[in-house]
Amino acid sequence: SETGSLSIIVLGASGDLAKKKTFPALFNLFHQGFLDEDEVHIFGYARSKISDKDLRDKIRGYLVDEKNASEKAEALSKFLQLIKYVSGPYDSEEGFKRLDKAISEHEVSKKSSEGSSRRLFYLALPPSVYPPVCKMIKAWCTNKSDVGGWTRIVVEKPFGKDLESAEQLSSQIGELFDESQIYRIDHYLGKELVQNMLVLRFANRLFLPLWNRDNIANVQIVFREDFGTEGRGGYFDEYGIIRDIIQNHLLQVLCLVAMEKPISLKPEHIRDEKVKVLQSVVPIKDEEVVLGQYEGYRDDPTVPNDSNTPTFATTVLRINNERWEGVPFILKAGKAMNSKKADIRIQFKDVPGDIFKCQKQGRNEFVIRLQPSEAMYMKLTVKQPGLEMQTVQSELDLSYKQRYQGVAIPEAYERLILDTIKGDQQHFVRRDELKAAWEIFTPLLHRISNGELKSIPYKQGSRGPTEADQLLTKAGYLQTHGY
Ligand code: BG6
Repeated sequence: SETGSLSIIVLGASGDLAKKKTFPALFNLFHQGFLDEDEVHIFGYARSKISDKDLRDKIRGYLVDEKNASEKAEALSKFLQLIKYVSGPYDSEEGFKRLDKAISEHEVSKKSSEGSSRRLFYLALPPSVYPPVCKMIKAWCTNKSDVGGWTRIVVEKPFGKDLESAEQLSSQIGELFDESQIYRIDHYLGKELVQNMLVLRFANRLFLPLWNRDNIANVQIVFREDFGTEGRGGYFDEYGIIRDIIQNHLLQVLCLVAMEKPISLKPEHIRDEKVKVLQSVVPIKDEEVVLGQYEGYRDDPTVPNDSNTPTFATTVLRINNERWEGVPFILKAGKAMNSKKADIRIQFKDVPGDIFKCQKQGRNEFVIRLQPSEAMYMKLTVKQPGLEMQTVQSELDLSYKQRYQGVAIPEAYERLILDTIKGDQQHFVRRDELKAAWEIFTPLLHRISNGELKSIPYKQGSRGPTEADQLLTKAGYLQTHGY
């Protein structure tokens, strides 16, 4: 792999995302030896006028917990020493010149400075400042080494609010940086069981002939959280659950479930197939959408009293291609629900010519639990053990905790940040993919903001509006009985 100085610049260094996700992921990479002390330097950039020490103190508590603090103490103090802070506005030449100077000083001071200069800019910022920040980076902070190296930009969702704003954002950034330099993070693509999807589908003979409309009745991709917007009401109200979770996280998962086999594992080959799936999704019908808003959501002082923003949504997506015509893909996400869980559920069709006719018989269902407690299980009908001939639903179960005891499952952000350093774009959203994703949801989002579709109130800690369960049944999902 490449060597040379590596500068990781976290813009928005004092914000929530940086504290909770970016710095902890960097620290874990450092602790596991993926970031070389002789090469790496980390810079925080933000508006607040604080010192290096202030920033270190601010993030320290997010990097270790009580349980592992002593074991990680040494790595922690080394890591914190690698962090410098530069303060400045997001559109100021002067600020970014100072940032560049700090980075350049680091590059000369490192032993490996004869090598290339690698600069990774992580924008932990709201998208409204992406364009000015990218302009400043381009003008003042790109890598200057003639020996080689690179400048890469990592951006977070939300990438825009609809097709038009997303495309505008894409072209503004696209004028400054090449697509190969832009890493659009969707952290669901960094999750272990999401990354497992292609292996599961294309390395198992068992699934190959079954994975289509002849055998699959419906697919559900479900996200639930058991807490509400928790102080993020202001942000959330502007976006809602469809933009926050469905248009990105769940749709990305759908791509991996539904895409055709790529020619190879090259990032471009995989992303080409994802785009094709997205482009095959037909417009969403109003009668295949249920929106909900949990009771109490509007009590947040930053949320307008008459807000119609959904905190829950079920939408049925239909893919018009040879493999999937007629198979509903049900995407469901909600805040303040009865549990915290994310699942992919693939329900197979009934067995033709059933000779058992037992009330307990159900359909085969293959469930991939993304979180918590990663697992995969297959619901099967088996003979109830005993003298009588009775059938019962049981499970073939692969629980990661049991099967991979002691194997730590990496945090999504760790994996993705490592990929950005390696230059691997497989698990990042390409510009045409993003556009296709917005094309699917933009008309619906506009109908919601016009008030043509209303959010139905639901109780906190519930399953969401009952209308959503009715929609599921209408789409052909059959509740099966466990034991
Ligand atoms: C973020 C959303 O993208 O994903 C949050 O903005 C949500 O609203 C979070 O809570 C969920 O991520 P995870 O990894 O906890 O499922």
